[in-house]
Amino acid sequence: MEKGRANVMAKVAVVGCGGFGKHHARVLSDLGALAAVCDIVEEKAKFYGEKYRVEHFTSVESLGKLGLDAAVVATPTVTHAPVAVKLIEQGVKYILLEKPFTITLSEARELAGMARKDGVELMVGFVERFNQAVVATKDLVEGNEIGAPILHFTSRFGRWPEQVFDVGVVKDTAIHDIDILGYISNERPSQVYATTGRLVHHKHEDFANIVLTYASGKAAVIEANWLTPRKTRKLNVTGTEGVIEADLMQQSITVMKQGETRMPNMAYKEPLMLELQHFVECVESGSSPKPNEEDAMSALEIAEIALRSSSTGMPVKL
Ligand SMILES: NC(=O)c1ccc[n+]([C@@H]2O[C@H](COP(=O)([O-])OP(=O)(O)OC[C@H]3O[C@@H](n4cnc5c(N)ncnc54)[C@H](O)[C@@H]3O)[C@@H](O)[C@H]2O)c1
Repeated sequence: MEKGRANVMAKVAVVGCGGFGKHHARVLSDLGALAAVCDIVEEKAKFYGEKYRVEHFTSVESLGKLGLDAAVVATPTVTHAPVAVKLIEQGVKYILLEKPFTITLSEARELAGMARKDGVELMVGFVERFNQAVVATKDLVEGNEIGAPILHFTSRFGRWPEQVFDVGVVKDTAIHDIDILGYISNERPSQVYATTGRLVHHKHEDFANIVLTYASGKAAVIEANWLTPRKTRKLNVTGTEGVIEADLMQQSITVMKQGETRMPNMAYKEPLMLELQHFVECVESGSSPKPNEEDAMSALEIAEIALRSSSTGMPVKL
């Protein structure tokens, strides 16, 4: 598709039809943009290809002949960069990589460099940016509803998703909150301190506490684990004039101020639908999607620094 050719339906493939990729396929099909599915497991590719009445493939190389405009990479994290490189080599100009983007920051830098050289737009699947509770919290903070923010607290708990073998809870899970904090506060931390541990995962950390401090004096605490039986996704912001408590699963927020508690009305909207709508609109209009590779690298850098801090037991200054 030529950049800027609006009103032409984008042709998007989903690579990786596992636990999350199947939702990308469903939503892209609903948007009328799904052109093909690909999974190295033939039965999965065939199942979703037949379900959504699109072509199915078992290798990324065979997608080249379709003349795709875009692709979503929802394979295991360790394969994101090699899959994206193959897509770029086949001329795909828009690629949405699921979080955490790539397995390391250095790999992310290499991929971003290649994409820049070939004029490829990259997006990262930080889907919480499209969560109505996060959007409302950002709007309220920016509207000075609770005064100057002092402390952010996030919690993201649940059981270990056993298909995640290649990264620990920091890069897989806490990275959402690292990104949310950057998105809401528009400020990079000046220091990162973290403690992590491993109870059930075979190789990587499965619980983490990350403390971020900022030059402006505010702080943030991120708690993430793969141990708690009940899934929790929460974000609290304490300011000089009040507190916002956001429940990202319910998509609800409570604003508490002196003598006043209110819960603004919010309609639930599927974050993945909003994320993919944005991606497809960018493909069709030739514009640049957000969050992009810079956002991905910023979050990956903080995740890697947190892991370094936890291995040395020392805070790390940025
Ligand atoms: N944004 C979010 O909130 C969110 C949620 C869940 C997962 N994810 C991310 O999505 C990615 C996939 O996670 P998942 O839970 O769906 O994993 P999964 O293991 O359930 O699915 C991965 C699929 O990719 C296929 N695959 C592996 N290598 C491939 C290749 N080279 N080409 C084509 N297909 C290949 C596998 O056969 C499998 O079907 C991960 O990076 C994960 O971090 C993001």
